[in-house]
Amino acid sequence: MTIHEFSFPTRILFGPGSLAQLPALLKAARVRRPLIITDRGLVSSQICYRLISTLSDAGFSAFAFSDISPNPTVPEVHAGGRACRDSSADAIVGFGGGSALDAAKAVRLLATHDGDVLSYEENAGGLIRPDMPIFIAIPTTAGTGSEVGRSTVITDPTHRVKKVIFSPHLLATTVIADPELTLGLPPHLTAATGMDAFTHCIEAYLARGYHPLCDSIALGGIRLIDEHLPRAVRDGSDLEARGHMLMAAMMGAVAFQKGLGVTHSLAHPLTTVAGLHHGLANGIMLARALEFNLPVAAQRLSDIAQALRLAPGGTAEEQARAVIERVRALAAEIGIPPSLSAAGVTGEMIEPMTEQAAADGCHQLNPRTCSAAELRQLYEEAMQTS
Ligand SMILES: [Fe+2]
Repeated sequence: MTIHEFSFPTRILFGPGSLAQLPALLKAARVRRPLIITDRGLVSSQICYRLISTLSDAGFSAFAFSDISPNPTVPEVHAGGRACRDSSADAIVGFGGGSALDAAKAVRLLATHDGDVLSYEENAGGLIRPDMPIFIAIPTTAGTGSEVGRSTVITDPTHRVKKVIFSPHLLATTVIADPELTLGLPPHLTAATGMDAFTHCIEAYLARGYHPLCDSIALGGIRLIDEHLPRAVRDGSDLEARGHMLMAAMMGAVAFQKGLGVTHSLAHPLTTVAGLHHGLANGIMLARALEFNLPVAAQRLSDIAQALRLAPGGTAEEQARAVIERVRALAAEIGIPPSLSAAGVTGEMIEPMTEQAAADGCHQLNPRTCSAAELRQLYEEAMQTS
């Protein structure tokens, strides 16, 4: 008999204005000196000002560490760890998109764990302990869902590789998901981050493995994103659409603890080799990856068609094709480029990208096995508008 383990433990405060709960939450945990971890772009923004004034109005002397780049590096998180120890911070408040939240997880780890952050890669034999300052994760984008994730991705700039540090102890103590904080996100970033969340939900549903809990959450997320992403891109001030997208992004990240798939394996090198935004890369590759999976995943794709109320009464394959068409139409509607070449990718990048995609772990749970030749072909096809 196989024993499965399921876990959905994150406490989430969700809703417009929920940021106002932060001081009470910190006081209840007897916090005195919270350290805000954010990124260079956000630190001077209106929403970061709102966060700092929320804390100072409540009597906290909060300070921010913001020397964090879009792909947080080892030296950056080490500097954050030193800032945390030097200031005797007793709570970490991660504020931003995936980069800031990933950096916050690593800084929190280094607050109480000695040595190089990379020595904790993949929990390095259980070295990560629970004795860390409390961690409040406050997302300002609706995409990665890093706020509910138990891993952080840190770039090793010496070897130009990304390392994953994973432990259940890295989970946020509490997430404050306030859709008002996402209102200022421009349309192109709303679209790209939203497609990342959409890809998480779809790939999690198609991933191999037994996880009916994640499957249901994934289908719910797919439905929310299909309905609300075009609205959020069209009108950034649509608070209802922003709220549903923020929720759907968390659903995607909860669901992909089941696994991801070939779209993510293709997307990762598009960032490291071609410099594309992660969500944009997923947005360009998703429909093509679904075409690739169609021969083995028609039944699962037809479940998605049911969730989206597409092609009622057709065969499983007809319904699966309707899903692929819907993904393509949604991407076009929100301004995702129609091909890799339209996004600035050039032919000579394909070989190094293929090598990295083949070595990427995400496609291990893809419903259809992928060879390097098939990955190369997917890139080549995606250079053209389909
Ligand atoms: Fe992703």
